[in-house]
Amino acid sequence: MYKALVRPILFLFDPEKVHYFTFSLIRNLSKFPGVKSLFKSLYVIEDKGLERELFGLTFKNPVGLAAGFDKNAVLYNELANFGFGFIEIGTVTPIAQEGNPKKRLFRLKDDKGIINRMGFNNEGLQAAISQLKKNKGQLIIGGNIGKNTQTRPENYTKDYLECFNALHPYVDYFVLNVSCPNVGSHAKLNDKDYLLELISTVQKANNSFEKQKPILLKIAPDLNDIQLDEIVELIAETNLDGVIASNTSIDRTGLKATDARLTEIGNGGLSGQPIKSKSTKVIKYLADKSHKAFPIIGVGGIHTAEDALEKLEAGADLVQVYTGFIYEGPSLIKKINKALLK
Ligand SMILES: Cc1cc2nc3c(=O)[nH]c(=O)nc-3n(C[C@H](O)[C@H](O)[C@H](O)COP(=O)(O)O)c2cc1C
Repeated sequence: MYKALVRPILFLFDPEKVHYFTFSLIRNLSKFPGVKSLFKSLYVIEDKGLERELFGLTFKNPVGLAAGFDKNAVLYNELANFGFGFIEIGTVTPIAQEGNPKKRLFRLKDDKGIINRMGFNNEGLQAAISQLKKNKGQLIIGGNIGKNTQTRPENYTKDYLECFNALHPYVDYFVLNVSCPNVGSHAKLNDKDYLLELISTVQKANNSFEKQKPILLKIAPDLNDIQLDEIVELIAETNLDGVIASNTSIDRTGLKATDARLTEIGNGGLSGQPIKSKSTKVIKYLADKSHKAFPIIGVGGIHTAEDALEKLEAGADLVQVYTGFIYEGPSLIKKINKALLK
């Protein structure tokens, strides 16, 4: 029904407008008596066989919603009814920011992809906290954190730390997002020495809390082998809890979209089917090189149950979806979970 009826209508309109429209639709529909239970009965599979224990947390199932969909933590309670095992909110920055000028979100229909240069548009830390206070505790919530675009390089760590400390009571795990291609200043966030400093500062803060929260690093799919080796070393040196592979890509190789269309769209991070193999390769490289020394959340181009299984076979412990959720609809989560039970 989604692909035959809902998607063709939604895809007639501007992608960002559709995003907000779908948000309010889900939120408003969920207020009607019986609708939440209807969604649950359609999409949720409860089965002990799907549970996963990872970094001290019990996930109801290994399929999560990737960061960027519920940036301001406004819809996670409702999204829980679509069968996810966990939801990652953010990227949250200390201060609210508008992100890049519109238009900044584009569909590549023939490629089943999206290019975005949203640029961390979000309502800021305090807005996210007030939403997270409404957590009904149905699911594991990840807090994906970043720096404000205007922040000077010497203050990057301060931004991450501010988000980390303030969100600590409200999320179950953290993600240091150092791989968004749309917020500039990436030289520093790709530098191993800087990452060592960032991670150890955040870990120190973590140790000052009574209960420590797992911390993961989200990386780009465009890293070369040398950079990936550095990530493996970094995780070993810092004992970080895991890696999310991957964020969106700046590579445009092999797309069906014409050069003219790509030029018209301009810069941005590519997601969806075109980055599937790239991110799976990164997962496999990290898992092999580290002898599976740390947990990996696999994300990038999961549009079918087989895609998810491929990521898990490559070395991922959990998976996340974003673009696949838009193209394939909410039944994708159930399909993956069903395949896992088989
Ligand atoms: C519109 C859009 C916004 C995104 N925003 C964020 C973000 O704020 N933080 C983040 O870590 N990843 C963000 N992502 C990346 C996704 O979380 C995911 O890593 C990436 O899209 C690859 O997965 P996919 O192919 O299933 O979409 C965004 C992706 C899209 C399409």
